[in-house]
Amino acid sequence: MAAILALTDRVSLCNGTSMPSVHLGTYLTNDNETFIAVLEALNIGYRGFDSAQMYDNEAQVGAAINHWLHQDLEDGNDPAVRSRSDIHFTTKLASNSSYDETKESILRSLESCGLGYIDLFLLHSPYGGPEARRECWRAIEDAISEGLIRSGGVSNFGKRHLEELLASDLRVKPSVNQIEVHPFNTRTELVGYCQAQGLQVQAYCPLVHGLRMAHATVVSMAEKHSCTAAQVLIQWSVLHGFVPLPKTTQKQRMVENADLSKFKLSVEDLAILDSLDEGLVTDWDPTDAL
Ligand SMILES: NC(=O)c1ccc[n+]([C@@H]2O[C@H](COP(=O)([O-])OP(=O)(O)OC[C@H]3O[C@@H](n4cnc5c(N)ncnc54)[C@H](OP(=O)(O)O)[C@@H]3O)[C@@H](O)[C@H]2O)c1
Repeated sequence: MAAILALTDRVSLCNGTSMPSVHLGTYLTNDNETFIAVLEALNIGYRGFDSAQMYDNEAQVGAAINHWLHQDLEDGNDPAVRSRSDIHFTTKLASNSSYDETKESILRSLESCGLGYIDLFLLHSPYGGPEARRECWRAIEDAISEGLIRSGGVSNFGKRHLEELLASDLRVKPSVNQIEVHPFNTRTELVGYCQAQGLQVQAYCPLVHGLRMAHATVVSMAEKHSCTAAQVLIQWSVLHGFVPLPKTTQKQRMVENADLSKFKLSVEDLAILDSLDEGLVTDWDPTDAL
């Protein structure tokens, strides 16, 4: 089982880079709150941020990161303690179309976030069919060689999509598959395949989108370990080797969601949580798209 994390911990990816063990999710944060939420998260110690073209917040996330990176300069303090290389910014392609549109789209994301490069760029879904997926992936491979992107990955890819992509003539292998995974949707087969292929699973909706916080088993597990339901769910994710992306705009919840070192779920606890699997989809599920 993976060790319990601190916010500074990172996991290694198959391309030799690394990413923070937990990221802040930013889906459904509105224009006004995104900048403040990301800035607060940075001050708490978060270094990973999950955005997407579809969330329409790349600019606010990037602006908050840039503000934080240059804050010490403005204050006249030593800027050396804050480095772009400590930050991990993820964004995702809105739709799989053509090679040219993907290249243009990557440039637009780069301009919006203003971060100089994108740490991880994902195909947000497999929609569009095999040819579009391959063309868009070719654009990601080229953007990596040009230094615009550090790592490439996919999201919501099912086993069939991954098999198809991995069997094509790849120059760069995807490093990540970002999928919905939590105790109420454990996706054992897909997770096993990703891990066997060396793809890091990023867990979206690690808090079940807030829908199972009061579930009796989760609550009793939290009572047993004197922690909160959110902490149980996030630690379940980390101990399964995933990189969870809990979303909140509330400062005290950001602190809570990252405070996982005072308890440890046992193998038996994990099995009890695994048994809650009901295949629950809280958002969308393109993993069986054509
Ligand atoms: N690739 C994809 O297709 C995809 C799809 C969905 C999501 N994602 C990514 O994954 C991230 C997380 O998913 P998500 O935002 O859907 O759901 P989530 O992180 O599972 O849950 C977020 C919900 O939990 C609440 N919450 C957060 N911390 C809490 C705590 N300590 N106690 C009680 N409630 C708490 C939040 O409310 P408050 O904000 O009010 O605190 C919000 O309502 C997204 O933000 C996005 O970055 C990716």
